[in-house]
Amino acid sequence: MRVSFPLTRRRMLTATGYAAAAAVLPRWFLDETLDAAEPAEPKSANDKPNVALVGCGGRGQADADEASRFCKIVAVCDVDDRHAQGAARKYAGAKPFHDFRKVMEQKDIDAVITGTPDHWHTFVNLAALKAGKDVYSEKPLTLTIDEGKRVVEAVKQSQRVFQVGSQQRSEANFRLACELVRNNRIGKLKEVTVILPAGMRGGPFQPEPIPEGLDWDMWLGQAPAVPYVPQRCHAMFRYWYDYSGGTMTDWGAHHNDIALWAMGMDHSGPVTVEGKPCIDPIPGGYTAASEYHVEYTYANGVRHRCVSTIGDTGFGGVVYRGPGVLHNGIRFDGADGWLWVTRGQLQASKPDLLHEPLPSDAIRLPVSNDHKANFFECMRTRKETVAPAEAGHRSVSVCHLGVISMRLGRKLNWDPQKQQFVNDEEADKWLSREQRKPWTYDMI
Ligand SMILES: NC(=O)c1ccc[n+]([C@@H]2O[C@H](COP(=O)([O-])OP(=O)(O)OC[C@H]3O[C@@H](n4cnc5c(N)ncnc54)[C@H](O)[C@@H]3O)[C@@H](O)[C@H]2O)c1
Repeated sequence: MRVSFPLTRRRMLTATGYAAAAAVLPRWFLDETLDAAEPAEPKSANDKPNVALVGCGGRGQADADEASRFCKIVAVCDVDDRHAQGAARKYAGAKPFHDFRKVMEQKDIDAVITGTPDHWHTFVNLAALKAGKDVYSEKPLTLTIDEGKRVVEAVKQSQRVFQVGSQQRSEANFRLACELVRNNRIGKLKEVTVILPAGMRGGPFQPEPIPEGLDWDMWLGQAPAVPYVPQRCHAMFRYWYDYSGGTMTDWGAHHNDIALWAMGMDHSGPVTVEGKPCIDPIPGGYTAASEYHVEYTYANGVRHRCVSTIGDTGFGGVVYRGPGVLHNGIRFDGADGWLWVTRGQLQASKPDLLHEPLPSDAIRLPVSNDHKANFFECMRTRKETVAPAEAGHRSVSVCHLGVISMRLGRKLNWDPQKQQFVNDEEADKWLSREQRKPWTYDMI
């Protein structure tokens, strides 16, 4: 059937975007998605809030580009002066900063986009909340479970608007998959399989002179002091446990987030975890497990596996296709069928599972078709965003639990209410990390 493109719609889906959505979504859900009320865009520059970008690397700048439709980027901050200067040239009128604490002193800044590496997210986010700013923070929300508890509490106390950069919650195919699972369209949920791209395995790496303009000591922040090694720094930090958790947290924060959203577990988590790396890291090289197999169970009996695939690059691109080659995404297996969802795809064991509309009394999830628009709309309405702090914290907690089990080398029992391991002092020590002075939370 030919479908006319609704040109009058405020949200200007391109013809290509429409065709792509129509190829993935069943008609009834596509219509619902297109009919959903769209957040109002600012009428003039005077209606645009002032926003600071902290961390002006690849993702931070992509976030600021998208946010520029709704806000003015008035400050850019980076410990690599080349990145701050480059961003200041890009966002006309933005003032460059080196230290994020100075940004928080600027009274005219309404919100902060946090685009730093993971080991800095919590410092920047806590400082922003304390200074009364709303926050759009990149995922994975934290470096440790303890950090997540602090951020959730700070959001509660400050009553600020907080959006985690888990943008799959604003993609209609993921929302539909979660709604179908929540409404038992595949029968009672039995198993969730999360497939993540394998991480990088490489090294040994050698120290090099610190590039001009990079404040390496501040880049390291709370992490241990080590000589500058380029492979530890920009973009590649995600493959080191000192700063991140490998693809287990990098991609896990996206796909485990969808797993929890579908299970209705935004305020909870698994009760057991058992993780194993499948290959040893190279001494002197990246430290985070590149290939792994982690299994979780939930109190309701659902089994959740999180496994890596070498079929995709660490950045999500396909390495090769072929029989038996896995690609990243999430599969839900229920008593009556299965669903598969990933970026640009939604498939089911039987087409009817997708094509039959949900009944009027079905459980529905918050609708957002544009992650940045949702954040800026919530800044206006003061409502909760589609990816609030607790959801980001609980999703990355699943990933952190997997990493802790792999690093401890044993199965662990977890209490998702208390957010502690069960009678396991050794494992509880991994909920936080030793912080290099002066970078402790007391200084925020
Ligand atoms: N939502 C997504 O799909 C998505 C995609 C890519 C990356 N990310 C996330 O975005 C974050 C950044 O990733 P990236 O690939 O852009 O990394 P990157 O290394 O390219 O950029 C990080 C920038 O932060 C700067 N920085 C480090 N410490 C700082 C500090 N204390 N204050 C200010 N700036 C500081 C670095 O110098 C660098 O310019 C990561 O947490 C990553 O997981 C999310």
